[in-house]
Amino acid sequence: MKLIHFTWAALFGVFLFSCTAGDTIKNESIRIIPLPNYYQLKPGTFDIDKHTSIAIDKSDSTMVALASYFNEKLARVTRYELPVKDTGEILFELVTAPELDTEGYRICVTSDKIRIRANAYHGIFNGIQSLLQLIPLDTVAGKKSRWEIGCIEITDKPRFAWRGLMLDVSRHFFTKQEVKRYIDLMAEYKYNVFHWHLTDDQGWRIEIKSLPRLTSVGAWRAPRVGNWWERSPQSDADSLSYGGYYTQDDIREIVEYARTRYVTVVPEIDIPGHSMALLAAYPEVSCMGGPFCVNVGNPFYTKEENSLCVGKERTFALLDSIFGEIVSLFPSEYIHIGGDECYKGFWEQCPDCKRRMALEKLNSTTELQSYFVKRVASSIQRMGKIVIGWDEILEGGLAPEAIVMSWRGKQGGIEAIRQGHAVVMTPFEHCYLDLYQGDPAVEPNTYSMLRLEDCYKFQFVPDSVDNTFVLGGQGNLWTESVPHYRQAEYMTWPRALAISETLWNESCTKNWEFFVQRVEKQFIHFEQLGVNYARSIYDPIIKPFINDEGELRVALRTEVDGLDIYYTFDNTNPDSYSNLYTGLLSIPKDASMLKVVTYSGQQRKGRQINLTIEELERRVKETN
Ligand code: ACM
Ligand code: ZN
Repeated sequence: MKLIHFTWAALFGVFLFSCTAGDTIKNESIRIIPLPNYYQLKPGTFDIDKHTSIAIDKSDSTMVALASYFNEKLARVTRYELPVKDTGEILFELVTAPELDTEGYRICVTSDKIRIRANAYHGIFNGIQSLLQLIPLDTVAGKKSRWEIGCIEITDKPRFAWRGLMLDVSRHFFTKQEVKRYIDLMAEYKYNVFHWHLTDDQGWRIEIKSLPRLTSVGAWRAPRVGNWWERSPQSDADSLSYGGYYTQDDIREIVEYARTRYVTVVPEIDIPGHSMALLAAYPEVSCMGGPFCVNVGNPFYTKEENSLCVGKERTFALLDSIFGEIVSLFPSEYIHIGGDECYKGFWEQCPDCKRRMALEKLNSTTELQSYFVKRVASSIQRMGKIVIGWDEILEGGLAPEAIVMSWRGKQGGIEAIRQGHAVVMTPFEHCYLDLYQGDPAVEPNTYSMLRLEDCYKFQFVPDSVDNTFVLGGQGNLWTESVPHYRQAEYMTWPRALAISETLWNESCTKNWEFFVQRVEKQFIHFEQLGVNYARSIYDPIIKPFINDEGELRVALRTEVDGLDIYYTFDNTNPDSYSNLYTGLLSIPKDASMLKVVTYSGQQRKGRQINLTIEELERRVKETN
């Protein structure tokens, strides 16, 4: 053991984190995302076939579970499982290697063995993910009997401890099986935090046994489809048939499922704003008394209450009951209390809130919000947990020890660090997975733009801050415009690949081209799994602008290099025999429509985008 430890320490000293993707960038044979911090390709291959065995300490039940996880994933491609023995060719070994911390691992593939070594089980799990991504992809799974893995050495550990994805299950409900599927896939890319946005104005999704109306009332709303914020409010004629919730048994099952994938589930109960579903169930903790109904996606902000009353003691009693049950259901050391976008207008009119402000000598409703957050935070901290909130919890004074999740840009994170608090970075312009990822003309309706390239470019540590305070970051999938699970997948992948890589890999110099090569390999994997991923990176990007002479011009480009762009102005559908784009376009006289496609050679790649000239002009105005 000591020898291994010594050798590894020497290896790490020389190589780890000093050697980046740059050394091997030309080699296309590695497709691993997130890219390992150190790897070296070697000559030769190791061949997996039916006779290959997995060797583990079979008296170690966690290692047995890891081997069976590996077997299950391997069988997706090979269609067979490998025997698990005490000796064999694929070895999973715990060793003393403190340099690897809890999540690092080392893989050594030689022509006769594959070894995954780690200091802790989580490291073995991460090594398994890399090993699975070393297995060649075959679009016809199961049609081969032997799978060649190129010899390689990998030494790897994550840059950040918090690598998360958030799923909003309030705006649309996702079943227990869907949530598991989401967690299963995120774990393949070494994500380790599932932030579960369980409550909001549009539905309360977790059973609280002492407060049954939260789910009997708060989990159900009138069915609506169509654009969010353009929906008709609930009427008396409506059946409350849309919704759902997780029972406490469901929650335990999902938490356990995540645990076996080394993913921590961090629950969010979003208070004091975003609480209309709670108020529908228990109007007595509002300022004005209600009645309330669970919002269906119609506009309400400032007109209808959705914030808890801070003046009434029963609000805090109810929250203690809720968090008492939450704490016992989630082993996570973190509990998220939301805190975002709290409308304070009704607090100004409420006699109880005014009395509270006078009693506590609070000068503004912002200070009242801070009073609320501090009081709830200290109650949860007494239950032994660490409290996290969106960056609004900074307003009016931050609760001691609270962690800030910075979403309105990086500023909240920078300010929290200045005050000595840990932060999780998730600025919306780089991390919000509900934004458009391609042209709005061909994407489902949503708001603002976050292309894969912008996701990938992002660095989670703001300039000039102490990076030891940055726990990590995450991508957030809000689901106002995500009505079902297939769409949740579409919005998440491939952007979550970019976030995973930035959170894992130490290298600050990014190689977009190399990343795209690897993303395209993951696309094959997604196809094998039946995951609905977005191919928006192949679509044309159309940028109209007004030149110095005041004339409309159009620039065309693609996110992916090497594609040809073809266009027409004559209302016909372009193909690879149409006009090839070579430079800025001017608009021919009387043209009414620009149509654009992309090709790789003779292969059509992206979707056709059709924009009227009026739309081009409208977009110019919108950006000015
Ligand atoms: C948020 O996006 N309101 C945290
Ligand atoms: Zn009040």
